[in-house]
Amino acid sequence: MEKRVSELIYRLDDGQSLSTEEYEELINGSDPESAGLLAALATKKREAVFGNVVYTRGLIEISSICKNNCLYCGIRRDNKEAERYRLTREQILDCADEGYELGFRTFVLQGGEDPYFSDEVLCDIVSELKKKHTDCAVTLSMGERSRSSYQALYDAGADRYLLRHETADKEHYEKLHPEEMSFDNRMRCLKDLKETGYQVGCGFMVGSPGQTPKTLAEDLKFIEEFRPQMCGIGPFIPHHSTPFKDEKQGTLEQTLYLLSVIRLILPEVLLPATTALGTIHPLGREKGIQAGANVVMPNLSPVNVRRKYELYDNKICTGEESAQCRGCLENRMKSIGCRLAVDRGDAPGFTGNG
Ligand code: SAM
Ligand code: FES
Repeated sequence: MEKRVSELIYRLDDGQSLSTEEYEELINGSDPESAGLLAALATKKREAVFGNVVYTRGLIEISSICKNNCLYCGIRRDNKEAERYRLTREQILDCADEGYELGFRTFVLQGGEDPYFSDEVLCDIVSELKKKHTDCAVTLSMGERSRSSYQALYDAGADRYLLRHETADKEHYEKLHPEEMSFDNRMRCLKDLKETGYQVGCGFMVGSPGQTPKTLAEDLKFIEEFRPQMCGIGPFIPHHSTPFKDEKQGTLEQTLYLLSVIRLILPEVLLPATTALGTIHPLGREKGIQAGANVVMPNLSPVNVRRKYELYDNKICTGEESAQCRGCLENRMKSIGCRLAVDRGDAPGFTGNG
């Protein structure tokens, strides 16, 4: 490892900020030794804030119908081969009931941008979920909506919102998305979500087509400045019926490296070891935790729809029952000296975005 790289790592560990150029140097300086140092420091930070507890969120994939056409995504509008489904209100509430019994205290409702889920429909589901499970948090991951929609959902009881920024570089954003989507609108959404009072998650895919050390450095700077409560990063994995079907997938090594850097930038951030990471390596999620992540998101969707929420090829956990997934992750976390919490797992010290 170059001396300069270890200097940058120790500055981050010390709570100092880096310039975008310095983040780029850090990314370019990645090798097994610097990755090892970063992982050790990131794990130490994670343990100082969270102990050996890993938070868990029950993921309910409520619709595979999407009006968008993101070039990377398997459920994009133009994928005519995708099988589409939409869960009913009752199915969603049943998934949550089952999850509650299994020990989940956060439910993440995620889906394509399906116009069926108007404010009226979604607010009703959110408020019913909160009424039934008063000790639970509800996270939404339903894409770009208007400010008034975010407000209505917040008022209905939603606590958190995940909307990956995908890339902090406008030109890169335009390579990943069709013309009708805009970088400025994505940023507007993130700002509105914060101002509304949500715990907000941003994030990006590692190794997305067109990504460079420079765009990654911009992502890290954005994360440092935006200070999200959550940050979802996982490898890009090609899907066979998208325009990016022949692109290379993101690597385990780079994803782990970036997880560690993000843990050092934001010691209190809720950082998932994603399903995509578990898809590219059998021990991906364990390695993610050992690089500084502290959240896992097992699937609570009904087994008969799981295969249809196919964002990328070979997605894991599409045949398992919810209880199996919970049990599987419990064992996986135990194997690395961690335990799953039965807890909402809010961002430490979160008192609103003021
Ligand atoms: N519609 C919502 C949104 O856009 O935020 C939520 C669903 S969207 C499918 C969730 C995330 O999946 C995206 O933010 C993207 O980063 C990730 N994703 C989509 N396609 C992927 C792929 N091929 N490989 C890895 N991650 C992917
Ligand atoms: Fe679903 Fe392991 S988490 S089977």
